[in-house]
Amino acid sequence: MKEISSMLAERGQTQVLRYFDGLTPDGQRELIRQIENIDWETVELWRDPEDLSGKGEISPIEGLTLAQIKEKEAEYFEVGAAAIRAGKLACVLLAGGQGTRLGSDAPKGAYDIGLTHPLYIFEMQIKNLLEVCKACGATVPLFIMTSEKNDAATRAFFREHHSFGYPEAYIRFFEQELAPSVDFTGKLLLEDKGTLALSPNGNGGWYSSLKKSGADGDFPAIEWYNVYGVDNVLQRSADPVFLGATIASGRMSGAKVVRKKDPHERVGVLCLEDGLPSVIEYYELTEEMATARGADGELAYSFGVILNYLLSAKKLEEIAKERIPVHVVKKKIPYLDENGVLVKPEKENGYKFETLILDMVKLTGSCLPFEVVREKEFAPIKNKEGTDSVESARELLKENGVRL
Ligand code: UTP
Repeated sequence: MKEISSMLAERGQTQVLRYFDGLTPDGQRELIRQIENIDWETVELWRDPEDLSGKGEISPIEGLTLAQIKEKEAEYFEVGAAAIRAGKLACVLLAGGQGTRLGSDAPKGAYDIGLTHPLYIFEMQIKNLLEVCKACGATVPLFIMTSEKNDAATRAFFREHHSFGYPEAYIRFFEQELAPSVDFTGKLLLEDKGTLALSPNGNGGWYSSLKKSGADGDFPAIEWYNVYGVDNVLQRSADPVFLGATIASGRMSGAKVVRKKDPHERVGVLCLEDGLPSVIEYYELTEEMATARGADGELAYSFGVILNYLLSAKKLEEIAKERIPVHVVKKKIPYLDENGVLVKPEKENGYKFETLILDMVKLTGSCLPFEVVREKEFAPIKNKEGTDSVESARELLKENGVRL
């Protein structure tokens, strides 16, 4: 304990022990465990965050358009379906986020979007995957990433619903790690007298957490991971055509993309940065780039990403030792003040540290943009109301013939 106190004193972080003496022995042990797990190198980044805005030379990336995909659809399907039958594809459902914008404490996937009958987000994801399994005649291993915050609730939800009919031998849950949050002066925050303010460390942590869990060891044939977000209820995961096209392209990753609606739509677009796949934010595009057109007359920078990626397992193994950039993000972080009162701030009050899957795609070195029809494959649920909300997703589901 002495060592920990003096280490914290050296770092100017003794405030985390403010309530230590009043904790039960178990509570004290738990707080010590959390302190011992802190990655100080990451926490120190608040002082001098890396500049992660596109600095390199930006150029358009070549991808497959809807018309090109249609032409070779049957061929791609065969390649993809054969790989699926050989056990070469696994799905990674990213469900470790907190869904703070949706404002529910339950796992986001447990959200019921039905109107006349229950229809859960997880259920939609599983239904889609079952369709692919049926079409290909094989079951795809499904890894579900949770975090300490929602792991038990997610597992219980799947148990309660008998995994919506997905063969349980093919499902594995694994937890992503948590990272501590700091205030604007770099001081670690407490969310309770014996608990640091911890939150999931971003969706870029999936690979190292999966590896740590060892769950992939049960499926040694895996050559590709299809990684996607839980909150797109029109998600087409394990898409054999996408897989076949990515394999045929010889690139080390693939990204499902939708066409930008107009030159100034506020979405990040896939491009090349110094020859590597990268996402450039709409506010980083110059007017000239936003309106530039390619030889086909289409916007040169128009591939919006929808968080559905294929990544080569072999490449991931190669790059596992490289450090994924850490994004230092301003957030509203509930914390315990000096008087022991829990404050839920109205405004941003500190930093969280997150890694993003986008940065992993860049590390793979090459990526195939694969265009899909937005109205058929993209209905994200981020907010309670308005854009990308439960309402907007319901409208899109109805348009696609889903009974709510
Ligand atoms: P978002 O960036 O939308 O974050 O995640 P979120 O946590 O779900 O929602 P907000 O921002 O708190 O409202 C995109 C996808 O990445 C997953 C989410 O579960 C979602 O599928 N994710 C995000 C993780 O798995 N872990 C994380 O640490 C962050």
